Amino acid sequence: MAPEINTTPIAPKKKLHIAVFPWLAFGHMIPFHHLANLLAAQGHHISFLSTPRNIHRLPKTPPKLSHSFNFVPLHLPQIPGLPPAAESTADLPPGLVPYLKLAHDGLEPADFTVPPKWVPFPSSVAYRLHEARRFFEPPPEGVAVPVVVGDLERGEAALNGCDVLALRTCPELERDWLDLTGQLYGKPVVPAGLLIPSEPEPEPEPEGPWVAAREWLGKQRFGSVVYVAFGSEVSLTKYEMTELALGLELAGFPFLWVLRKQGKAGSSAEEEDGELLPEGFEDRIQAKGIGLVHTGWAPQVQILAHGSVGGFLTHCGWGSVVEALRFGRPLIMLPIQVVDQGLIARTFAERGAGVEVARDEEDGYYSGSSVAESVRAVMGEESGRRYRDKAEEMRAAVFGNTGVQDRCFRGFVEFLENYSRNNNV
Ligand SMILES: *[C@@H]1O[C@H](CO)[C@@H](O)[C@H](O)[C@H]1NC(C)=O
Repeated sequence: MAPEINTTPIAPKKKLHIAVFPWLAFGHMIPFHHLANLLAAQGHHISFLSTPRNIHRLPKTPPKLSHSFNFVPLHLPQIPGLPPAAESTADLPPGLVPYLKLAHDGLEPADFTVPPKWVPFPSSVAYRLHEARRFFEPPPEGVAVPVVVGDLERGEAALNGCDVLALRTCPELERDWLDLTGQLYGKPVVPAGLLIPSEPEPEPEPEGPWVAAREWLGKQRFGSVVYVAFGSEVSLTKYEMTELALGLELAGFPFLWVLRKQGKAGSSAEEEDGELLPEGFEDRIQAKGIGLVHTGWAPQVQILAHGSVGGFLTHCGWGSVVEALRFGRPLIMLPIQVVDQGLIARTFAERGAGVEVARDEEDGYYSGSSVAESVRAVMGEESGRRYRDKAEEMRAAVFGNTGVQDRCFRGFVEFLENYSRNNNV
């Protein structure tokens, strides 16, 4: 007999969302189900995770609690040796239970790695397993600042707290996602336009170390140079720098690699990204005349607009992608941070504007040869044509189309004016 459930809440307080995921044995699932009832009776929301048959076989949830319950059916993978209908230890002789554990482990690739079911149109955009795992990892060591509120919580609080969502995009690029975002959040979603940079003015008199890089760029063949940069916030580890450097050398296309001059968390302020390059790399590539490493500030928009540049090896920050496609440059994509860069890379790979550097699905490592392969695919005379054509098509229609962007921005301003008038804010 299950003990009686006390449904009197202790005190009104923050409603928690609690996931309950017991081992696939009724000796575990029944007590966990009971625990879930008690938690729901306290006003908390429960997601109970198990397999479809097990969920079906659980005791009935008291009707007054059922609105607080969300049963999440997970399908066990087919494992040789495990009878097809077996979903709990009760379905098996004890000798076969290890197969059930194997199948249970196979549940691991979570929902993160497939497009969510609530996307009503075709899309392959999802996280990779190694990215999904990083969401659940503790912050890296050496980060001295205590994390009080996680980035996901910050983002969620901002999304929940605002009245209107304004996004740096335009309907010509992704009307379906804009509509879906509005439905999901139940608030107005307004595209603000891509905020594209204008054509760069000719530089008055360039100064400092940038002069040499600019001269070098000017001597290269039209559309032959890979521009390599990772924005101002992303830092690469020693291994990531090494494999990238080897990959660029191996690919055999001229490259301009712009490195930050900045200390990172946990390192001395003087440490520069350049110190993480392989021994002798800079001298070697300079002697061979195949590339240039520039440390410090560089005018990204001018570089991307330069006729010598034929492709952009990028971490896929949204600003960088917008700037690249503004000038019709195809993308060699190496996303580093997990929140949006991987999803942006998959979006533009799916649309054919470039390729993503292959990483190991499990641990996320990439090799010099996977970098070289992607660089060659995009920069190659023949192999790269379709990426160049697609990037150029996107430039003309959307990213470099000032008419489209101006119209979108004016709509945004008009929306704000209307909203202010209609809501007295
Ligand atoms: C602003 O309001 C005007 C007048 O009601 C309307 O015609 C226009 O479509 C609105 N614009 C936007 C962007 O909501």
